[in-house]
Amino acid sequence: MNTASEEKNLAEHGELYDVQAMHAPIMRERAEPRDGYEPIHPVWALLFGAFLFWGGWYLGRYSGDFRVDVLDEKKSLGAAAVAAQPIDPVVLGERLYQGRCLACHQADGKGRPGQFPPLAGSEWVLGPPATLARIVLHGLQGKINVNGETYNGQMPGMASQLTDAQIAAVLTYIRQAWGNQADPVEGKVVAAARQATSARKTQWTVAELEQQPKEDPLPATTAGSVEPGKAPPAATPPATKTPKNN
Ligand code: HEC
Repeated sequence: MNTASEEKNLAEHGELYDVQAMHAPIMRERAEPRDGYEPIHPVWALLFGAFLFWGGWYLGRYSGDFRVDVLDEKKSLGAAAVAAQPIDPVVLGERLYQGRCLACHQADGKGRPGQFPPLAGSEWVLGPPATLARIVLHGLQGKINVNGETYNGQMPGMASQLTDAQIAAVLTYIRQAWGNQADPVEGKVVAAARQATSARKTQWTVAELEQQPKEDPLPATTAGSVEPGKAPPAATPPATKTPKNN
């Protein structure tokens, strides 16, 4: 029966019987399994645990904090939220440069001697954006002098592959990379150049480019977005147009 210390313990807790001792036989023996209550195989328990763990990890990794704009890409957060994070034209321009221009003009913008002219320090790159836009839109052929060297190659036009905004971004990039310091190029400047030269099918020559206006009247479709103080310059008389392109 109970020892003296057990008696004391029982008295202290106000119990007449030692509950633990009473349960010991039951704890020692497991009940016979009954139909439908058999314990599952431990492998299943492990698999189930692993599956739960994976589910938690997956949610944590891919739920995107349950943000509406992450989970539903069609959902717009409104113009304000979009306008708050404008695309940096230099970042976009660098990516486009790597995909569209780097193969010829090289990563350092220095081109290849005798083959591809440099963009770093080039007076063409730092010059009028309207001319630059024309070069990228329709390409260039024949002799050209860049940084004191003469080149005579072929550059393809990209009018059908790049949007006005993309061309503006890549031009902005080349005007600010490799130590170049010129103003960014706006999409509407490229749009104006595209409109003014829409009939053109062949690459430019330097002689043709020099006859082109250095600034285009902005297209009617975007004229509404022009600031009042910045009306399109009237300095582009029809006489400067080359007969070839019209
Ligand atoms: C297939 C090669 C090639 C690709 C791609 C190319 N260019 Fe050119 N680029 C040339 C060549 C060749 C010339 C010189 C053409 C000539 O000799 O008449 C040139 C000339 C130029 C010029 C005027 C001369 C100068 O060095 O400043 C500019 C500006 C220019 N390219 C910008 C670009 C931009 C921006 C891109 C990408 C959107 C691009 N090029 C893609 C080959 C290329």
